[in-house]
Amino acid sequence: MNSISRADCERLDALDPLAHVRDRFALPPDTIYLDGNSLGALPCSTPARIAQAIEHWGNRLIRAWLEAKWLEAPQRVGAMIAPLIGAADDEVIVIESTTIALFKAAAAAVQCTPDREVIITEAGNFPTDAHILQSISELTGVHIRTVEAYRLEEEIQSVGENLIAVVLTHVNYRTGAMHNMAALTAATHQTGALMIWDLAHSAGAVELDLNGCGVDLAVGCGYKYLNGGPGAPAFLMVAKRLQDQLENPLGGWLGTADPFAMAEEWIPAPGILQFITGSPAMLSLLALEEGVSTFAGLEMKEVRAKSLALSKLFIDLIDQRLEGHGFIVASPRSDIRRGSQVSLSHLYAAEIIQALIVRGVIGDYREPAIARFGFTPLYLRYVDVWDAVNHLHEVMINQEFQVNTREIQTFSSV
Ligand SMILES: Cc1ncc(COP(=O)(O)O)c(C=O)c1O
Repeated sequence: MNSISRADCERLDALDPLAHVRDRFALPPDTIYLDGNSLGALPCSTPARIAQAIEHWGNRLIRAWLEAKWLEAPQRVGAMIAPLIGAADDEVIVIESTTIALFKAAAAAVQCTPDREVIITEAGNFPTDAHILQSISELTGVHIRTVEAYRLEEEIQSVGENLIAVVLTHVNYRTGAMHNMAALTAATHQTGALMIWDLAHSAGAVELDLNGCGVDLAVGCGYKYLNGGPGAPAFLMVAKRLQDQLENPLGGWLGTADPFAMAEEWIPAPGILQFITGSPAMLSLLALEEGVSTFAGLEMKEVRAKSLALSKLFIDLIDQRLEGHGFIVASPRSDIRRGSQVSLSHLYAAEIIQALIVRGVIGDYREPAIARFGFTPLYLRYVDVWDAVNHLHEVMINQEFQVNTREIQTFSSV
């Protein structure tokens, strides 16, 4: 392969149909941000939206809930997320956090299948998913079977009619490896069980077709590729056909048919609305609305195409420029198996990430020995990828990672 020059990358940027979308973000100068898979960048429109919400609060007080359309924001923003994940508008709702959304999805699945006993999940998943399933197991007595990814289909078949649900994260947070959603959902359905996907590292970066794959339930993160801001609320997708069969296991007043009737009995609201529990964190929810608005007018197909082009460019440059420096590409090289990040394993991964941060290149470190780089197609340029690898090359040549270790604060984004 011919070596890729910075000028080649400038040409790619000049031809990039998504290049203009970068202007929707307020990015700090002298920073190459390769951590939008952990905390998305600030949309330019967010500060004014928050300021407006505060003004509504100050001036209109409680009247703002209706006048500023706050009350309907969970379903309004859910409907904006729906086309990004291949769901219908009335199948998605914005609620507390991915962790809580997963509890609601998995516990609802347990409640509606009292004659089944097992949930299957995968080893090496983001810890919160395992913790939540453990809590559900302790509360309900169901068994959680944690298996390696390559054994999933075999295990699903073997549990068969005793299977309640399969809970998987579509793109692995550590390696960026992506499951085959259609195949695993179909295998799960053959046993009559429900399929629940965690889309934390997929929504807004990967083309998804939840309805085309027949997915039952899904959850996803608002603060990563959806750019909703720190601690942004999450989303829950429940397929229309299941909305009346499943029940919110954390039923609360705002998920009832008529919250202001103040009825003592919990009578669920119709459809997806029953999965709301209490009052939404309105400022965060409005920030998420601005985050999701950064996708206006974009097709996920073109977003995915750019994401793959960026991550492939990064891998090609690592191959060309970092050979002999001890890096192993820990993410799949195959496009159909790679999400929107590239993880490099290296003995000094933590120190190398810190040295890059000093140079203004922000990636992150994950145990064990993984340097993780996220590629957010909405605001990254091809030259950013080239410059990042160039910095990495200089860090290695100058052995900066050994000098800097003790001096630099550790970042702990998720
Ligand atoms: C796969 C996955 N699921 C869930 C979460 C947690 O999401 P939340 O903080 O919204 O509960 C994360 C956070 O990084 C994650 O990577």
